[in-house]
Amino acid sequence: MKIDLNDIAYWMDGIRNEDNHMRYHMLESFWHGQLKSKIWLCETLANVEHTISNRIVIFGGWYGVLATMIFNSDVGAKHITSVDIDPACKDIAVNMNKAYAMNGKFNAVTEDMCNYEYTEDPHIVINTSCEHITQQQYDAWLEKVPGDAWIVVQSNNFASHKEHINCVDSLKDFRWNSKISKEFYSGTLELPEYDRYMIIGRK
Ligand SMILES: C[S@@+](CC[C@H](N)C(=O)[O-])C[C@H]1O[C@@H](n2cnc3c(N)ncnc32)[C@H](O)[C@@H]1O
Repeated sequence: MKIDLNDIAYWMDGIRNEDNHMRYHMLESFWHGQLKSKIWLCETLANVEHTISNRIVIFGGWYGVLATMIFNSDVGAKHITSVDIDPACKDIAVNMNKAYAMNGKFNAVTEDMCNYEYTEDPHIVINTSCEHITQQQYDAWLEKVPGDAWIVVQSNNFASHKEHINCVDSLKDFRWNSKISKEFYSGTLELPEYDRYMIIGRK
């Protein structure tokens, strides 16, 4: 996929503007595996849903890299909200998506995904941070997802990572845990260090 050079310049500004400690953390979102997983998401989701008017909420949106990639993809986003529990993420995600934030197409909020209150019904909700939350948190999050929204979830088997508290061993296990009853797509992306699993469907 191709990313607008203007967006890349904003990514670089976002990284440049932070101190060394935060720069290190931000670069974690640019590992090959991270980017490949998000390209996979954008390309697969575009086959399921592509209109220019999608309202999308990304949970565990981190520093906003996936949001920029979706804006550059064929998914078609009218607006993206990025939700993250870490208060450090909000301003960084806005800076990383400056082109879209400036014209009202992007915002970021600090919130636990389990407590998020939807202000408008989303067309698509995305949670690529399932390995970072307990099954109880996942269930609480899923409970609040509107029934007619497309749901995109990713997890992985990278259990040795210290922040991964809820990895799965296989796509089969992830399908069981994710409780997506109307599955439209499920698949595995094999990466050098770990496998990533993705499911797209509705509740
Ligand atoms: C390391 S990042 C993203 C990893 C993921 N595999 C990806 O590539 O998108 C995980 C993010 O989830 C966020 N997070 C963890 N628990 C959360 C919760 N309960 N609500 C919202 N965000 C949460 C963290 O703050 C962090 O920014």
